[in-house]
Amino acid sequence: MGDRWYSEAVVYCLDIDTYADSDGDGVGDIRGLIGRLDYLARLGVTCLWLHPIHPSPNRDDGYDATDFYNVDPRFGTLGDFAELLHQAQNRGIRVIIDLVVNHTSDEHPWFQSARSSPDSPYRDWFVWSDTEPADRHQGMVFPGEQDETWSYDRTAKAWFYHRFYKFQPDLNFANPKVRAEIKKIMSFWLQLGVAGFRMDAVPFIIELTEPGNPNSPKDFEFLTELRQHVQWRRGDAVLLAEANVEPDQLPTFFGDAGGSGNRIHMLFDFMLNGRLMLALARQDPESLIEGLRDTPKLPVGGQWATFLRNHDEIDLSRLTTEQRNQVYAQFGPDEDMRIYDRGIRRRLAPMLGNDRRRVELAYALQFSLRGTPVLRYGEEIGMGEDLSLPGREAIRTPMQWSYQPNAGFSTADPEKLVRPVIDKGDFGYQTVNVTAQRGDPKSLLAWFERMIRTLREAPEIGSGSTTHIDVPVPAGVLAHRADGPTGTMVFLHNLGTDDVEVDLSTLEKEADLPIDVLADRGYGELGKLGAVKLTGHGYRWIRLCRSQPF
Ligand code: NOJ
Repeated sequence: MGDRWYSEAVVYCLDIDTYADSDGDGVGDIRGLIGRLDYLARLGVTCLWLHPIHPSPNRDDGYDATDFYNVDPRFGTLGDFAELLHQAQNRGIRVIIDLVVNHTSDEHPWFQSARSSPDSPYRDWFVWSDTEPADRHQGMVFPGEQDETWSYDRTAKAWFYHRFYKFQPDLNFANPKVRAEIKKIMSFWLQLGVAGFRMDAVPFIIELTEPGNPNSPKDFEFLTELRQHVQWRRGDAVLLAEANVEPDQLPTFFGDAGGSGNRIHMLFDFMLNGRLMLALARQDPESLIEGLRDTPKLPVGGQWATFLRNHDEIDLSRLTTEQRNQVYAQFGPDEDMRIYDRGIRRRLAPMLGNDRRRVELAYALQFSLRGTPVLRYGEEIGMGEDLSLPGREAIRTPMQWSYQPNAGFSTADPEKLVRPVIDKGDFGYQTVNVTAQRGDPKSLLAWFERMIRTLREAPEIGSGSTTHIDVPVPAGVLAHRADGPTGTMVFLHNLGTDDVEVDLSTLEKEADLPIDVLADRGYGELGKLGAVKLTGHGYRWIRLCRSQPF
């Protein structure tokens, strides 16, 4: 693996509280996760992204911290966390953590102090207005669940700003003391051994909020400062940011206008996520071809993080209304499956009708597109959602390990579980679980293991350049390639249902001894590239040539 390890990483994200419970209290914990590291190593992931680990009243699944220098006591101790880092490192797995510093919980001692008096040393750590700001009802992130971004606090006798829920007051990044504190928090965790941070809500961190101005100025230099700071403390640490903004704004998050890549290393590709969902819904790769063509050029070291599912809703807000409706029609036909007027609160397997061919196709596609793939826990076994749970909790149910009670997640009484396990229907743990799939070489889990191993043998996917192969292909087929110092990979994905043949003879002169390294079935020897067969919903990853010997 090259120096920029994150370019060739396979990231796996999980909530500690729903992953594995070691002490039977119904809540997943760090020791439980340590016990599952061998599973993760076997799966082939190289980096864990842990959702918020800090103490929290948990009104937004931990994205509301009360202490940035500790772990939630429900998960264990800092000692357990250090042990996790050690054990992960032993298995070649890096750990990054969610850094949620746009806001705190309103129960955080800083906010409690700030609201108590205008003279509090923490008063200026938050964003206040003495009068009701004119933009009070603008800029909400959770429409339907949030109706204002400025709320009046009776104790403080002032209005405070909160981009997210009311119980998440925004920190004031215009205050140098806040900036210094954020750097201290990062230093603390780097010193403990984390490999970097998934930075929450980055477009809002750099906002210099002015009451009444819904378009407050942004200070991108703060990102440059954070990057420098992190790099001095740990040279190979990575910043992976959530910045769900218009595509033309993305380059500024990677680096300044000089193109130096001096800010965020990796950004989640929300645009691609929407396009992937659209392509799958339409069974037509056109939106992906546009995506490959329109991708902004990244500075050296800049990288995309691709995903099909994360812990939130599938955000379709960057699609047109017509496109969004097409995705809804296929994947979120019931009102109950949708959320915030923009997204879908379901997992991938149920959205694809639990059709194994389509699930494989979707993940083969995601993992072959440019960038570093991010996989959400449970997707590797095809878990489903529980729509009876509120909001995004539908896709945050406990990991399904086995046939044992509570899916082997916990030995607690079911009513004590942090969230109920899915125990009914096609996605119940009796049917979908790790133990069952481990024993079956044809399982989805076995497929994921194979696919991830194959990806790791093809570093050009993460580190090289990815382009659409512009040759005539049958409807529904995407042909793309990845070129890097190690050679060239060619990919065919058939989003349509018909069996087809693809003419790739223009690539013949570049081909060494082309071979399928991953495919939906055994297609036999590849031979000439003039008539490459592809079944409906089939895919073929072809190694065209290798410029470095094994
Ligand atoms: C983005 C996180 O992904 C989401 O889960 C959370 O609710 C908000 N940021 C607020 O922290």
